[in-house]
Amino acid sequence: MEAKGKENGAAAMAAYYKGFDPAAYLQYNYTPPRADFGRKDSIVPWKLACLHRAFTEGDVSGELLVDIGSGPTLYQVLSGCEVFNKVLLTDFLEVNRKVLRDWLQDEGGYSLDWTPYLQHVCKLEGRRASAWTEKAAKLRQVVTDIIPIDVHRPQPVAPDALPSAGADCLVSSFCLESVSPDLPAFTRALGHIGRLLRPGGHLLLIGALGESYYFGGPGVKIPVVPLNEAEVCASLKENGYILIRLEVYTLPPDMRVGVDDVSGVFFVKAKKE
Ligand SMILES: C[S@@+](CC[C@H](N)C(=O)[O-])C[C@H]1O[C@@H](n2cnc3c(N)ncnc32)[C@H](O)[C@@H]1O
Repeated sequence: MEAKGKENGAAAMAAYYKGFDPAAYLQYNYTPPRADFGRKDSIVPWKLACLHRAFTEGDVSGELLVDIGSGPTLYQVLSGCEVFNKVLLTDFLEVNRKVLRDWLQDEGGYSLDWTPYLQHVCKLEGRRASAWTEKAAKLRQVVTDIIPIDVHRPQPVAPDALPSAGADCLVSSFCLESVSPDLPAFTRALGHIGRLLRPGGHLLLIGALGESYYFGGPGVKIPVVPLNEAEVCASLKENGYILIRLEVYTLPPDMRVGVDDVSGVFFVKAKKE
C-alpha cells in the first residue's frame, strides 16, 4: 500500500514533466536578469562562483563526475570539466538529453548560447575570456555520455552505466526538489543518488528554497517541494552525508520574474561518509 503511494507520487510528477519545454525553461531562467554577468547579485553568476570555489579548493578530485538531472543546461559542469577526465550527464527526459547532445555534437542551432557562461567561468579561473573556445572544446572532450535517469528508483541509472566503485563526485542543480512529490520523496531521492557516489566522494547540491511551483514551459506549472535550510541539512544527515558548507542566496525583488515563486537558492558542498 505504502509502496503504491510512493509510485503514484512519482508517476504524478512524471506526468507534469510531459509538457516540459527546454527552450522556454532556458529562456525563463538562463537569460537576464537571472543570468546577467554584469551584476554580482544576479542568480547565475552566484551559482557559477559557488561551483568554481567548490571545485578549486583542492579536496574534490578523481576520475568521474556525474551530473544528476542535467536538464537542458551545461553551466553546472563548466568548472568541474577542468577537474575530472570524465563527465556523465543525465536526465529523465529525452527532449533535454537531445538539447545537450546537439550542443556536444557542435552542430549549431542551440536553444541557448553558452558563450557568455563559458567566458565568465574562464574569467573566474584567471584566464582570458577568449579562452572560452578551449573550455567548450574541453567540455565536449570530457563528456562521455548523456544517459536516462530516474531519481525515484533505488538504482537511478542503468546498472552498467557507472564503474562499480561509483562516481568520485556528484553535482545536481534544481532537480530533486522539483521532481519529488513531498519532502520524504526528496530525502529518499537524495539517498538513491548517493548510491552512485563512492564513499568519501563529494556532493555539490544546488536547489530552490521556499519554492512551491515553477513553469517548465508556457502553462506548464510544475509543483516543487518548498524546502528550508534545516530540511536540506536533515535530509543530508539522514543519508550519511557530512556537510562541508551551506551557502544561501536570497533573490532580489527584480529576479522574481513570474516564472516561479522561489525565494532563495542553497548551495551545499558535502561528503559521503
Ligand atoms: C528544474 S529542472 C533542472 C535542470 C537543470 N539541472 C538546471 O539546473 O536548470 C529539473 C530536471 O529534472 C528532470 N527530471 C524530471 N523527473 C526526474 C526524475 N524522476 N529523475 C531525474 N530527473 C528528473 C527534468 O527533466 C528536468 O530536466
